[in-house]
Amino acid sequence: MSDLAGYLPEASTMAGRIDALLLALTVVSVLVVGGIMALIAWFAFRYRRGSPAVRGPAPRRSRTLETVWITVPLLVFLIIFVWAAVLYRELRSPPQDALAINVVAKQWMWKVQHPGGQREINELHVPVGRPVKLVMTSQDVIHSFFVPAFRVKQDVLPERYTTLWFEPSRAGEYPLLCAEYCGSGHSRMTGRVVVMAPQAYESWLARNPGAGSLAHQGEEVFRRRGCSGCHGESATVHAPRLAGIYGRRVPLEDGDMVMVDARYIRDSILLPASEVAAGYPPIMPSYQGQLGEEEILALVAYIRSLADQQEDAP
Ligand code: CUA
Repeated sequence: MSDLAGYLPEASTMAGRIDALLLALTVVSVLVVGGIMALIAWFAFRYRRGSPAVRGPAPRRSRTLETVWITVPLLVFLIIFVWAAVLYRELRSPPQDALAINVVAKQWMWKVQHPGGQREINELHVPVGRPVKLVMTSQDVIHSFFVPAFRVKQDVLPERYTTLWFEPSRAGEYPLLCAEYCGSGHSRMTGRVVVMAPQAYESWLARNPGAGSLAHQGEEVFRRRGCSGCHGESATVHAPRLAGIYGRRVPLEDGDMVMVDARYIRDSILLPASEVAAGYPPIMPSYQGQLGEEEILALVAYIRSLADQQEDAP
């Protein structure tokens, strides 16, 4: 489908498909509502007082008519349901090879962390033709990340990670909005997404090197905040070693298994008593209020990089 009357560009691979669904829903709704309105008008005219219309007893029930009016709407609704469900499922499952970028929302700005360590505020640079997965959290209230040109919107919540993915299909600049009322500066919590050709994106990354890769920044936090004192290679404390742990399922003290992902690592740092790893004493202190969301995301990137090293090792 083409852009909506040239008003709203379709700049992601999903945009056209979402527009098609919306158009189909609109057409079906207009047909149904229009048909009912036309019948109301026609009956009002035909059976007006004094008209010569037949007013005998109602016709006997017709099985065919009943079957048709039950089956046709049911089929229409089922088709739309399956269509939308398939689309929704795809929208909720980012491809494995997606480029992961972190977003931290706050009153009132968007802070972006690239895996290479680049940071930006109220701007997001991405390459065209490559799936991008955003891992998002808020450091205060609920916000919502909304890029109309991509037809994607996702709430960004404090104390948890939400994700969103898209594949930009067209280079250009597109508005980024906050779609959840988040205080007096909500309407100004805007930015732009810059979609660049792959080479232009690479040179943009090179021009904005940042302070080393995100994993490297995380390693520094790891040392500076004393995590290495217990979790480091040479530590004598009985604490879990973190190499190779990311992306695995590990046993907990209470018998459950848990997937080591960004959510679990974040909770282990801030609420260490909630999910204690099996076989370890619950001695980890909480870092609540001491680490910013961006530092925690850097730590996650660091622990994740340890997993990669482990996999690469012979
Ligand atoms: Cu942030 Cu509205």
